[in-house]
Amino acid sequence: MTLPPTISTPRFLRLFKFIFYPLDYLEDYYQKYGDIFAFGQSETPFIYISNPKGIQEILTKDKTHFKTGAAAGFLSTLLGNNSLLFLQGEKHQRERKLLTPPFHGERLQSYAKLIYCISDEVTEKLEINRAFNVREVMQEITLKVILQAVFGIAEGERYQQLKDLLKSWLSLFEDPINAAIIFFPFLQKDWGNWSPWGRFLRIKSEIKQLIFTEIKERRQQENYTGKDILTLLMLAKDEAGNPMSDQELHDELLTLLIAGHETTASSLTWALYWIHYCPEVEEKLRTAKQISSRSHLPNLDNNSDLLEIIKLSYLDAVCSETLRIYPVIVATFLRILQTPLELMGYQFKPGTVFAPAIYLVHHREDIYPNPKQFRPERFLERQFSPYEYLPFGGGSRRCIGMELAKMEMKIVLFTILSKYQLQLCSSRPLKPVRRGLTVAPPNSFKMILSQNS
Ligand code: HEM
Repeated sequence: MTLPPTISTPRFLRLFKFIFYPLDYLEDYYQKYGDIFAFGQSETPFIYISNPKGIQEILTKDKTHFKTGAAAGFLSTLLGNNSLLFLQGEKHQRERKLLTPPFHGERLQSYAKLIYCISDEVTEKLEINRAFNVREVMQEITLKVILQAVFGIAEGERYQQLKDLLKSWLSLFEDPINAAIIFFPFLQKDWGNWSPWGRFLRIKSEIKQLIFTEIKERRQQENYTGKDILTLLMLAKDEAGNPMSDQELHDELLTLLIAGHETTASSLTWALYWIHYCPEVEEKLRTAKQISSRSHLPNLDNNSDLLEIIKLSYLDAVCSETLRIYPVIVATFLRILQTPLELMGYQFKPGTVFAPAIYLVHHREDIYPNPKQFRPERFLERQFSPYEYLPFGGGSRRCIGMELAKMEMKIVLFTILSKYQLQLCSSRPLKPVRRGLTVAPPNSFKMILSQNS
């Protein structure tokens, strides 16, 4: 049996680098070993792959030849075993089908106004000529958007509590030292409220309580008429005609709440950084009929005005380049082989674990010349295949919120830039850092804003 080059660095050292230097970790091995490399001395190793043809083969066969694993231990504690992330085969497909409509077509477009209004309201509170924490503001926007989409509520004590709890829950792992807890199960010990894991478990149970209470109240209503995702899931029945249990509903809602705001907030933070780190990008955005001043704000009575924003080609390219250069999820969920497979001249046995490395594909010199340069124009000059550009993964697990996230990024950026001028507080380049399971801008990143003339 032939296997790709195998890395023999001790596991502890590898994990250390993976946690504290997540991108160097991938890049160093890529420089040494190229398109495909393996970890672990067994016959079923862990493989990172960044060859688009190889990735295409995996993602097009992922329903028939693979199971999906999603860093199971921590994520299943976070979201619960009934989360879409852990469903397989038929059950996964059925639930995806159920969850897809709110993220497409007219239902998706109906969120445009909501996103615009929330961005406007949140940024209106910022002080002019004062530094603000960019991530906090972006997260406030994306969290409000997803809560509204999932529950259809925007006000009230429960909504406020849920918003605050979700924010503090995820911030527990925002710095790389605490993020280590995710990857070392022996650190997952409940030493009371002051320990990160203890706090994690307590917040988790408070969130669960709030979601269960909301479900219970909705069940007591005679008719469910809302257009929110909770209503949709409550009306759904499985093939035997049974509705989803409270626990199933809870796990699915929590998945959407978590997956639906962290990633978009980080991507928006990067976008604001790049637009202002490269003055020529800002200038191009503000001219060429892209983003102008306050007097050209959209007419909110007419959704088509807002939908025009989504079509702005240079703004679209800026978002695509942001997701290319620093994808917040650096490798797709794991694909675990179920049948023997020959790939790129190697033979793999069932049990081999594949991680298509999004970050490495996005930094291939042969696809993206000068890959470290932020250059939105590359997305106007050519089209990339779904295996050359995959910030949202691919195959049967491709991100369900992709269209929502792309629309959200464009409307939020448009709203902010048409109201304000922004400035970086420091001209030093911003280095990505680990944030839980994702890779994001550092928490300390600040900007200053002034009113648009
Ligand atoms: C910029 C923002 C986002 C990025 C970069 C992103 C990225 C990803 C990636 C890489 C995957 C794994 C796909 C794979 O393994 O092939 C994924 C899955 C998923 N994402 Fe997103 N995502 C974003 C926003 C969202 C939003 C807004 C939602 C929901 C409202 C969402 C919900 C999900 C769900 C539920 C899955 C699991 C799909 C499945 O298992 O079938 N994501 N996302």
